[in-house]
Amino acid sequence: SDTPLALTPPMGWNNWAHYMCDIDEAKVLANADALVSTGLAAKGYDTVTVDDCWMTKSRDADGDLVTDTRKFPHGMAWLGDHLHAKGLRFGIYQDAGSLTCEGYPGSGAPAGGGADHYARDARLFASWNVDYVKMDGCNLYVPPGTTKERAYRDAYHAVAGALRDSGRDMVLSASAPAYFQQGEWGGSDWHKVLHWVGETGQLWREGRDIKVYNAKAPNTSRWSSVLGNYGYNRWLGRYAGPGNWNDPDFLIAGAPGLSAAESRSQVGLWAMMAAPFILSSQVSQLSPAGLAALGNTDLIALDQDPMGRQGAVVSSNATFDILVRPLANGDRAVAVLNRSGAARDIDVPLGEVGLPGCTADAKDLWNGRRALVGGSLTGRVAAHDTGVWRLSPRGCAGAVPTGQIAGAGAT
Ligand code: DGJ
Repeated sequence: SDTPLALTPPMGWNNWAHYMCDIDEAKVLANADALVSTGLAAKGYDTVTVDDCWMTKSRDADGDLVTDTRKFPHGMAWLGDHLHAKGLRFGIYQDAGSLTCEGYPGSGAPAGGGADHYARDARLFASWNVDYVKMDGCNLYVPPGTTKERAYRDAYHAVAGALRDSGRDMVLSASAPAYFQQGEWGGSDWHKVLHWVGETGQLWREGRDIKVYNAKAPNTSRWSSVLGNYGYNRWLGRYAGPGNWNDPDFLIAGAPGLSAAESRSQVGLWAMMAAPFILSSQVSQLSPAGLAALGNTDLIALDQDPMGRQGAVVSSNATFDILVRPLANGDRAVAVLNRSGAARDIDVPLGEVGLPGCTADAKDLWNGRRALVGGSLTGRVAAHDTGVWRLSPRGCAGAVPTGQIAGAGAT
């Protein structure tokens, strides 16, 4: 249908970064219950997505995908009903290529060419009352004489068309850009993909996979994985807007491997970037600090701001990144990431965040404290933490440059 989907970034949970293929109905439902009992579901984390490895290795005689009933004994329609009864939404994984990344049947044409299953799979998902489809991009066949970029463009447009024709509104999470990564600025093909991917999906993966949980080494490299994906995503604001979101992958805030400060940083940076808020952790085991960050309603409101402008980096060095995000009511959010290993005092001139000569009411979104600031925003940011403030301009000396305070009503 023509209903606009995902006008604000999708929120929810996906099993992959914690469970990978070790997934089943009981684990999905336990995490769905935990979303409800922690209060996260009521705050917007409502889409529960089953990632790769839910199906069997071959299609049935009709050509339909087959649920692995050893893992999901009641089947997927039942799972969807069950999630819906809890007030949640149902997401499922498939792949636009011939096989999923883990080797299960994909939707795309087989290697060497042949018929795809986009329409058939979309109809099946619609019959299960699926609300959200994550369409991965492994094993996509590139016909001879075609570029890889063209093959992905055709495949993802076909997927989007099939979902539209299914008669059910299903959000499409497209993975195409992630298969064209070449360093932070990407290659030209990466940007070509970013130019069309929003015609197909409402959100799209870029960056690497957030490092998955490893019980044997729970504390290694997850922070650098978060910083790495932030590093890619922070430059892509031009592609984002209502119904179109850059997806730097899952939130692992509160999960093993991230400290309290690092958990706040992920939530703060993802909110500044209008990123999807999709947890991928064991929800019942989230650390108290992580749960507090994920459930912080000021941060959620920042992420979900209806204007949908992704924040941008206004300065970056080895210690600090400063990001600014204009908001629908004329406020602007300012974040300061402290990459260093020591707490640092900050002093951010208001002119640097687009409020030259202004006085502003500044709310520290982590502790709710308000202060009237003029000249510059000051504070202290712990090691690996990110300070986030919401600034409401109260008055500005002289003319504020056009476009700097959209609709601020500053007097
Ligand atoms: C690669 C994706 O980026 C991951 O998020 C996950 O979906 C795996 N594939 C599953 O195979």
